[in-house]
Amino acid sequence: MVAIHDYQGREQAYVKHVFLERYLERLVHKTASRYDRIVYVDGFAGPWQSANEQFQDTSFGIALRALRQAKATWKTNGREVKMSAYLVEQDSAAYDRLAGVATRYPDVEVKTFHHDFLKALPAILEIIPSQAFAFFFIDPKGWRFRLHDLAKMLQRDHSEVIFNFMFDFINRAASMKDSAIEQGVDELIPYGGWRKKLEQAEERGATSEDRKAILVDAFGESLAKIGSYNYVAETTVLKPLSDRALYCLCYATRHPKGIEVFRDCQLKALHEQAKARAATKVKHAEAITGQREIFESLHEMAPNVLETKLSAARRMAEKTLLELTPAAPASAKYAHIWPQVLAKHIVRLPDVNRIAARLRTEQKIIFPEWEPGKRVPQPNYKMHK
Ligand SMILES: C[S@@+](CC[C@H](N)C(=O)[O-])C[C@H]1O[C@@H](n2cnc3c(N)ncnc32)[C@H](O)[C@@H]1O
Repeated sequence: MVAIHDYQGREQAYVKHVFLERYLERLVHKTASRYDRIVYVDGFAGPWQSANEQFQDTSFGIALRALRQAKATWKTNGREVKMSAYLVEQDSAAYDRLAGVATRYPDVEVKTFHHDFLKALPAILEIIPSQAFAFFFIDPKGWRFRLHDLAKMLQRDHSEVIFNFMFDFINRAASMKDSAIEQGVDELIPYGGWRKKLEQAEERGATSEDRKAILVDAFGESLAKIGSYNYVAETTVLKPLSDRALYCLCYATRHPKGIEVFRDCQLKALHEQAKARAATKVKHAEAITGQREIFESLHEMAPNVLETKLSAARRMAEKTLLELTPAAPASAKYAHIWPQVLAKHIVRLPDVNRIAARLRTEQKIIFPEWEPGKRVPQPNYKMHK
């Protein structure tokens, strides 16, 4: 398990890793039930500011443990799954540390690449067998990236991707009137018409949240378009001491199960983030004023920002569910509708199930095949308004 004490002064990386750990554990275990080969690709592996000798506070350390664990679990069930990790790092000092990791994981095929990620990518795509499931983690330090340069990777079948979208930098760059920077942001976010939307939002007095929604939605749309992904979603990592977004982990999948697991893990990471941030703020205030108790009690009394945000998300999910439900005589299967709701809002499948069941009792949605005794809709049920 990742541990907060490895992340002094970089609590944002703790939140990223809590999410990654939970997600990879579930993803690798689940996909290994179907695929005989799983490949994890870390394009910007580090180690980066790692404080842990075993690299338990790095993305590749977290991934290697998830691969090892899933392999061992399936082996006890008589199933052999080959696990691979392909790790790329450009910096020589970091690469020297990375290169030693393979010997610690003899049960996983570890290949390290001392290269620029884009240069290493064609060779990596070449060695991933076409029937393998691949998970790509793209976590660059900066934001200068031509998204189309990743097209072959994004278009690969049986794949998922998480891209760390450096919102704080990109948000500033998006308003700069410098042609090289403008071109850079256009190359990173080629679709979604974000520039016009930002201008219109600015005229209405856009908040940082409005700008984030426009930029991150457009980036998600670009990922989906280039890679033909059905579902894209993001989870935001805040700055440790202010309520502003630092970066957004943008996720793309073609599978409903992926978006279901993403939201489960996101919720856990958001609760962990709220706890870590409260502790960091109290520590910071104590360092400045020498008083701890007063700040602890102020934090306990503060309105629960996360809960407020999540209940707003549930209300918006209800609205989306109603909008997506066709009016009779048309109908749609519930299995087709719920993943679209999850892709748009920070809600879990059990939340949407409960909302759907309530809308049924309120006769706002009709499920003609609802069986007696069922408390939530089944995936194959047809639904209409
Ligand atoms: C943000 S850190 C990665 C952190 C790591 N993913 C984690 O979560 O533990 C980015 C890393 O990418 C490396 N890097 C920067 N540019 C690169 C490039 N073009 N290709 C490969 N690695 C690069 C940096 O040296 C640094 O170690």
